[in-house]
Amino acid sequence: MAEATASSNSGLTRREFLYYVWGASMALFTAEFTGLFVWFALPRFKEGEFGGKFAVPVDQVPAKNARPVGFSQGRFWLVNLDTTESNDRMYRATDEPNDIVGVLAVYKVCTHLGCIYDWIEANERFECPCHGSKYRLDGRRIEDPAPRTLDRFSIEAVDADGALLATSQTDSRTNEYAPMVLPANTAQLLINTGDRRQGSNPTLLRQLARAT
Ligand code: FES
Repeated sequence: MAEATASSNSGLTRREFLYYVWGASMALFTAEFTGLFVWFALPRFKEGEFGGKFAVPVDQVPAKNARPVGFSQGRFWLVNLDTTESNDRMYRATDEPNDIVGVLAVYKVCTHLGCIYDWIEANERFECPCHGSKYRLDGRRIEDPAPRTLDRFSIEAVDADGALLATSQTDSRTNEYAPMVLPANTAQLLINTGDRRQGSNPTLLRQLARAT
């Protein structure tokens, strides 16, 4: 009896102890939940980091059907396509019903096993050094083993004040981002490397003739 009295006078009762443990647990849970909420709410990537948006002045966009321009930090190529103009870099195949005109941002990673391919000017196409896949200027497969067309990033065209003029549209035939015809007063393009659309897997171009 004397022992029990001493125990209750000297410190916490069992009920108080459990109450404080419960309070501490709730505080910890609330802190964790708040931290998670803030983590989700913050943007994942800053502008100019891969995964974020890259601003490209319109004067850095290549001329129509010219060799592509690479942006190493953003891991994309910019290409400017026009199959209405005769050339060897970009042409329309017999299974493509419409001309292909506009600007694309093409991911720099091969769709086979992820090597970094390059533009080979002498052959006027992209070629992968690992297993030999080849792609046309817009990223469509010429030769396998690549399983699909190169992936594409979405693009926004903005004017000199930053006002949005146009955004990438989806090609209903392939579900890829379609080439964007730049509005007249475009000042820069915003390439969103956090918004990548997988390429489709149409017939290899080497099996098709050019459309006339
Ligand atoms: S990784 Fe490019 S062909 Fe294999």
